Amino acid sequence: MNFDDIISQRRSVRSYLDREIPYQWVHKILEYGHAAPSAGNIQPWEFIVVRDEENKRAIVDTTFIGNNEVDGKPQNWLLSAPVFIVVCANRDKVKKRYGETSLNSLVYLDTSACIENMLLGAIYLGLASCYVSGFRKKELSEVLGLPKSHEPIGLLPIGYSTEVCLKRPKIDINEITHFEKFINKQEEKAVL
Ligand SMILES: Cc1cc2nc3c(=O)[nH]c(=O)nc-3n(C[C@H](O)[C@H](O)[C@H](O)COP(=O)(O)O)c2cc1C
Repeated sequence: MNFDDIISQRRSVRSYLDREIPYQWVHKILEYGHAAPSAGNIQPWEFIVVRDEENKRAIVDTTFIGNNEVDGKPQNWLLSAPVFIVVCANRDKVKKRYGETSLNSLVYLDTSACIENMLLGAIYLGLASCYVSGFRKKELSEVLGLPKSHEPIGLLPIGYSTEVCLKRPKIDINEITHFEKFINKQEEKAVL
């Protein structure tokens, strides 16, 4: 599979086959994530691999559909995936090097670079995933036994897709690309 194929075949998949994944492949995905760039090469990410059904259920109970953190129903579709990888950030590592000011941006920038590598790596291995951040952080931290220094950033279900998902519509790249300086394309359109 070449890089163009990997990029164009990536989708957020929300239904998985009841089929186990060898640990070597999970490990490969972790390696892809761990190869990501990070500010100052701090590598603040840590991974929690979850296969146990009860633990998965407890994690899913901390998730919610849409924006409704309080009353949103859990994202039960996640349970069809045989493996979850929770990507956490060790905030203390970032804080020690960059202080409070940069902390809140770098933690998310670094771990998101890591997560995208993992999403693409899953495709390369013939697997599928989805970047999930709709969970109550405090509750999920308790379920995972995370220390105060660590924040859960993304939950990645990993499995074989049951569906052939169509590519989700993307904005025309010309609308969001600027050369040399920013041009307000919305205003430009309104004038025409
Ligand atoms: C930061 C982030 C958080 C997301 N959280 C969720 C989520 O909680 N549940 C979910 O089903 N999809 C989630 N998604 C997936 C998006 O819905 C998906 O990427 C988007 O609809 C575009 O579809 P595509 O990934 O197939 O291109 C998330 C994506 C990102 C980048």
